[in-house]
Amino acid sequence: MNGLAPHLRLGVNIDHVATVRNARGGTYPDPVRAALLAQNAGADGITAHLREDRRHITDVDILRLMAEINLPLNLEMAATGEMQAIALRHKPHAVCLVPEKREERTTEGGLDAAGQMTALKSYVAKLNDAGIRVSLFIAANPAQVEAAHNVGAAVVELHTGGYCDALLATDRAVELDRIQKAAAQAVSLGLECHAGHGLSFETVGPIAAIPSVRELNIGHFLVGEAIFCGLAEAIKRMRAEMDKARTRLAIVPK
Ligand code: PXP
Repeated sequence: MNGLAPHLRLGVNIDHVATVRNARGGTYPDPVRAALLAQNAGADGITAHLREDRRHITDVDILRLMAEINLPLNLEMAATGEMQAIALRHKPHAVCLVPEKREERTTEGGLDAAGQMTALKSYVAKLNDAGIRVSLFIAANPAQVEAAHNVGAAVVELHTGGYCDALLATDRAVELDRIQKAAAQAVSLGLECHAGHGLSFETVGPIAAIPSVRELNIGHFLVGEAIFCGLAEAIKRMRAEMDKARTRLAIVPK
């Protein structure tokens, strides 16, 4: 590593381009066009969540993303039989297993990997056998990190929602500390560590500055910010904020 933190990848989540499209039931705006734009603006990967109720991304979107983009696709999905069959059919670069409740607005909380180890072990093994990198979206909690390792996942994505939503600086510091510790634990177990949920220009710096975090997945804020400055500009600025945090890290002696 030469004292430098490794490159921090930016996965752009395009779900909410599809949310806007689906508000009118037509084909505009096209999330695949947004993915191509993200690719040109410096994204390292595209993330899309195929929900059970297809409220934003659809099966056709996944088919088109696989065919039309040159970046790795990270398919977020619930650990169901239906989704496993879809992943095995498309073989995206990565699958991120997330908890899913129909009534939730967004992915609230992490997957309870510790509470469903047996089922997850065989579920993850099938995806691993197909050459798909499996990530578990979990809370920054030692038991969940340990369980992710035990079920054979290659990656954990730490939920940053609590950190981003904290109103008080002291609460945010507690959440950040949890994430830093979980990231260190993940890496010590040989897991790759990602993070995401709720990140914005304001909150991304301290997360990007965790040297063992290798990828951030960011969606809602970027699509919202695109209304004001355009998606390419929003992605470029997010990239710059990430790089700034990473560069500072490289020059600060331990
Ligand atoms: N990572 C995971 C696993 C998610 O489920 C989501 C939300 O879909 C994100 C990252 C991105 O969160 P946000 O849209 O708040 O940036």
